[in-house]
Amino acid sequence: MGQKITSIKPSKNLRDKSILSFNQFDQSTLKEIFSLAMKMKAIATKAQTSKILTGKIIILLFYEPSTRTLSSFDAAVKQLGGQTIVINNPSELSSIAKGETFEDTIKTLEAYCDAIILRHSKEGFSEKAGAVASSVPIINAGDGIGEHPTQALLDLFTIWDHKKRLENLRGLVVGDLLNGRTVHSLLQGLSLYKNNEVYLLAPKDLRIKRKLIEKLTKNGLALFEINSLSQAPDNCDFWYWTRIQRERFTDLSKYKVLKNKFIVTKKLLDKFGDEKTLLMHPLPRTGEVDKDLDKDIRSVYLKDQIRNGMYIRMALLALILT
Ligand code: CP
Repeated sequence: MGQKITSIKPSKNLRDKSILSFNQFDQSTLKEIFSLAMKMKAIATKAQTSKILTGKIIILLFYEPSTRTLSSFDAAVKQLGGQTIVINNPSELSSIAKGETFEDTIKTLEAYCDAIILRHSKEGFSEKAGAVASSVPIINAGDGIGEHPTQALLDLFTIWDHKKRLENLRGLVVGDLLNGRTVHSLLQGLSLYKNNEVYLLAPKDLRIKRKLIEKLTKNGLALFEINSLSQAPDNCDFWYWTRIQRERFTDLSKYKVLKNKFIVTKKLLDKFGDEKTLLMHPLPRTGEVDKDLDKDIRSVYLKDQIRNGMYIRMALLALILT
């Protein structure tokens, strides 16, 4: 076992802060998070140890299902010596099922913990929780079709780790861009850096909202909506594929029509990408990424993105809570 990390420098930008939207980050805050995430990798791989969250209790309040966000946050807290209370499906398994309000739930839970990590099915509920909670930070772990800021942190960290830069990037983003909260946060992240351009490919009814396009363009991100993969440049730094989100459809027959509209295969990546194009996906995937790509050197969705999620969340929690 190597050196022990006993303390970290208090963060001016993040200490005691809620994380509600990616728009609250700037380049210097990202640098701070990424630099600590590199150190967290050493703790997670047991080269070093740390108990900097000892005595802290974090509540994970998840109204929507999750595999990665829930378990990586849970593991992140435990890697740093803290404890968690996991409340899955509160609509059925907490007093919300008896009619308690969301506001009273947040007020109650904040009395028992040092931070609440919230996933909600409705956009804006993290902000709502942030307005109600008076003593603990709220971390948005995905709010409906709104945002998923910590996913964007891990996505950007993954790109930065591979490309050694976050500016002068060319990317392709594909899938359900209307409902894709990971995409909404990722694009905000890319808009913080110079000379980034992103090609957007989505079924006609699942295109990103005009208002968000206008905001991102105003921030300096070059966006190009395209109708087929052949319109994307062949030298993209990354392809960010996403699933069509069944849970956002009221008409399932419409979902079934769109579900397989864009499937990425090795053949397509070879033809329209290049040997340095990273293939990313926030997961879960539901058939839109061919399994032949899992072992491809360009694929990072089942490797770096998953692991980086824990390192980034360890760093973020340490910066907020110490
Ligand atoms: N990427 C992501 O948010 O995955 P989960 O829904 O499994 O947390």
